[in-house]
Amino acid sequence: MNAFEYGNGLLHAEGVLVADLAERFGTPLYVYSRAQLQAQLAALAAGYAAVTPLICYSVKTNSNGAVIKTFADIGVGADVVSGGELWRARRAGVPARKIVFAGVGKTAEEIEYALKENIRFFTVESEPELARISDLARRLGTTGRVALRVNPDVDPQTHKYISTGKKENKFGLDLARAGQACETAARLPNLELVGLHMHIGSQILTAVPFREAVEKVAPLCAALKRAHPAFRCLDIGGGIGIQYKPDQHPLDPATVAREIVPQLQALGLEIVLEPGRFLVGNAGLLVARVQYVKDNPFKKFVIVDAAMNDLIRPSLYQAHHEICAVRQVAEQIHGDVVGPVCESGDFLAQDRELPAVRQGDLLAVLSAGAYGFAMSSNYNSRPRAAEVMVSGSEAKLIRRRETWDDLVAQEES
Ligand SMILES: Cc1ncc(COP(=O)(O)O)c(C=O)c1O
Repeated sequence: MNAFEYGNGLLHAEGVLVADLAERFGTPLYVYSRAQLQAQLAALAAGYAAVTPLICYSVKTNSNGAVIKTFADIGVGADVVSGGELWRARRAGVPARKIVFAGVGKTAEEIEYALKENIRFFTVESEPELARISDLARRLGTTGRVALRVNPDVDPQTHKYISTGKKENKFGLDLARAGQACETAARLPNLELVGLHMHIGSQILTAVPFREAVEKVAPLCAALKRAHPAFRCLDIGGGIGIQYKPDQHPLDPATVAREIVPQLQALGLEIVLEPGRFLVGNAGLLVARVQYVKDNPFKKFVIVDAAMNDLIRPSLYQAHHEICAVRQVAEQIHGDVVGPVCESGDFLAQDRELPAVRQGDLLAVLSAGAYGFAMSSNYNSRPRAAEVMVSGSEAKLIRRRETWDDLVAQEES
């Protein structure tokens, strides 16, 4: 489904006019569609129905409580990477037994919190982390469930910053070491070795790397299952790519599932998925208002009130986001869409055919639901954008726009 479509030349978010949202809540404004969040989840669950996975939404992708709650209300768990994300997930109603905790640098404080919450398992990335969890669990008189993160050394064919399953990446342990670390985990006190985990990267657009990764870890899974009675699960992470460009073919989860489900079924393990981008990416857009159109001799610049601090993906990963006019216009111009931040890297689009907008018009930056607001900052002392959730003809403010007071609220003078 696409929740953001034109009717009579005006962009809608489900049953609401995007221009009305901009009037009511101001710009820059993130707008999410609840129906699309739910539809994405349904498509993923249908693709993997044969292995009835536990789906743990990757909270880092979009950590607004209303987004987490939309998924929690339909039985989805959470993949978290910090104490803060764990706290957010619990606050949004995700049961602790559906929460998995990843990340290479968990602090003692975060581990202690997760042990007290009794989460489903930690995905462990190194031997010293195993020792720390064991020690803290012993002190608390409890047991830490752990799944070792394997780095299967496959190329996910994505941007190098979001490639996580190659041997040069900081994540997980190579297969041989992961096997040894599992034996260590099984021997350490107050630990239960429950599974293996992997996450090979993000925005992956073919099923091949997923198949290669599962093929590589399957023998270790089978061996661990034979050797350790508590070993029961394989967490295959997230990574399914979405459409950012009109000519891009998004990856259908059913295609990935067709490639790997036979192997997963043969393993007979509980399967955990950690989708992020696939669930929320196309379910959100960023609305910005044109402040100036500047005609340089070399280039035209459409200067809007959203910037790299609101959506850093174009600057950080040279990511492409489609940009369209909230009120369609027939003519086009060629140029860049830029923000007010004092960096030449502050752009939302470069060298593009764009709608011929004028001062005061609204633009929508599409596919901004994932790694959008979640990666935003206050750089240049810019208050962060507001966020709105649309459902049918209703729109609810789910995060108010920050104020200048918010900018200094933590400061002491
Ligand atoms: C451990 C882990 N799981 C899941 C995800 C979500 O990935 P995606 O948004 O590509 O589905 C990430 C993203 O970085 C991750 O690090």
